[in-house]
Amino acid sequence: MKKFVRDFELIANKRINREYYLLVLKSPERLPEMLPGQFVEIRIDNSKDTFLRRPISLYDVDMDKQLVYLLIQEVGKGTRKLAGLKAGNSLNLIYPLGNSYSLPEEKAKVLLVGGGVGVAPFPLLAKFLKQNNVEPEFLLGFRNKELLVDLADFEKYGKVFLSTDDGSAGEAGTVMDHSVLKASSFPYVKVYTCGPQVMMKAVSKFAEELQLDCEASLENTMACGFGACLCCIQETVRGNLRVCKEGPVFNTKDLIW
Ligand SMILES: Cc1cc2nc3c(=O)[nH]c(=O)nc-3n(C[C@H](O)[C@H](O)[C@H](O)COP(=O)(O)OP(=O)(O)OC[C@H]3O[C@@H](n4cnc5c(N)ncnc54)[C@H](O)[C@@H]3O)c2cc1C
Ligand code: FES
Repeated sequence: MKKFVRDFELIANKRINREYYLLVLKSPERLPEMLPGQFVEIRIDNSKDTFLRRPISLYDVDMDKQLVYLLIQEVGKGTRKLAGLKAGNSLNLIYPLGNSYSLPEEKAKVLLVGGGVGVAPFPLLAKFLKQNNVEPEFLLGFRNKELLVDLADFEKYGKVFLSTDDGSAGEAGTVMDHSVLKASSFPYVKVYTCGPQVMMKAVSKFAEELQLDCEASLENTMACGFGACLCCIQETVRGNLRVCKEGPVFNTKDLIW
């Protein structure tokens, strides 16, 4: 897939909660095909500390309006700098990077399990699933109700089950404690997961026990983002693979983690 390097105009920087914000970026030209699970590498200007680009998943893409949406959590110097940008600023992106989630071929119901900012690839994935006659439902976990994302972005595609560690929204506990995973029937043919590794491992074990296909999007620390530096290697049954190039999405059966 051809990669592009372009300056995008920041149309809006919307604060979602005290840690998360949503960037809306306008492409200078028609966007190429952008698939769910893929990511962009953002250049953070004007600092030696942040000379490496930062990988961020596609949250949503509007092909007609040439817009790219990115949900970002402030965790360090780079994401803090991005949080301070204003409409009208310019951001340089490399895109689209990585592989993508695969979609079931038959009409079916699937469950998307995400934790924290790991929910970021799900709106675009859900859009593609719907377009392919697949019904997505979501199981989303957050630390507390102050750190929820905009659930309307998910509810427009399917039912949302919610959990928070402290029980301030949805059911109390982690996603693994949620009653949707404890019910006697599990109506989903496939599970997708993204979030903290400990959560993804638990989700993958759950899916394995039910003999269901499970795909996880990994967030190994990256530098180049396009396969050259080998710093994002993941051990798999197919050998050591680059998360930025052969991933970030893997069938969990392939992962040695
Ligand atoms: C494929 C992929 C998709 C991602 N999608 C999102 C997203 O949609 N929203 C979001 O908020 N975050 C996402 N992340 C994590 C995000 O890239 C890091 O939080 C961010 O790079 C941290 O940068 P920083 O300068 O604020 O932090 P620092 O800790 O100062 O970063 C230092 C260096 O470590 C790298 N790094 C740090 N944490 C991570 C991490 N978790 N993953 C990869 N590299 C890291 C940075 O790129 C940078 O080179 C994604 C990561 C990957 C690999
Ligand atoms: S980040 Fe350089 S090879 Fe993956």
